[in-house]
Amino acid sequence: MSRVKSSITFHACLCLAAASFGSSVSQAAGPGEQAFAECAACHSVDGSPGVGPTLKGIIGRDSASVPGFAYSNAFKRTHLKWTPDQLDKYVADPQAVVPGNVMPYAGMSDATQRAALISYLATVKSEVACNRLW
Ligand code: HEC
Repeated sequence: MSRVKSSITFHACLCLAAASFGSSVSQAAGPGEQAFAECAACHSVDGSPGVGPTLKGIIGRDSASVPGFAYSNAFKRTHLKWTPDQLDKYVADPQAVVPGNVMPYAGMSDATQRAALISYLATVKSEVACNRLW
C-alpha cells in the first residue's frame, strides 16, 4: 500500500514539473524532437521495445530498469537515477558516464541541443498518472 502511494506521489511530482514549464515545452518541442531524431532509430517514447530500452518516463527512472530489456553488464552494475542533470552528462558522453556500455552513440556535444532534448524527454512520461490528476 505505501508502495502504491509513493509511486502516485512520484508521478504527481513529474506532472507538476511538466506543468510548471508548460509554455517552454511547447516552444522547445520543435528543437527537442529534432534532437531526439538522433535517438529515435533505437529508442521509442511510447513504451515499445527497440534496439535500446524505451525512453518513455526516462526522467526520474532508475537506470537499467526497463523490464525485459537485455542491458549490458556495464549498465547492470551501474546504479544511476536519470535526473535531467545525469541524463545531460550521459548524452554528452555515454562512455564517460557508463564505461563499457554498448549503446552505439558517441555523444551529443551541443549543450543547447541536449537541453532541448531533455525538455522533450520530460514530456514523455506516464500519462496514466497525469490523467488521474488533471
Ligand atoms: C544505435 C542505437 C542507439 C542510439 C542512436 C541511441 N541509443 Fe541509447 N541505448 C542504446 C542501447 C543498445 C542501450 C543499452 C546499452 C547497454 O545496455 O549497455 C541504450 C541505453 C540508453 C539509456 C539508458 C536507459 C536505461 O533504461 O537506463 C539512455 C538514457 C539512452 N540510451 C539515451 C539515448 C539518447 C538520449 C539518445 C540520443 C541522443 C540515444 N540513447 C541514442 C541504443 C542507442
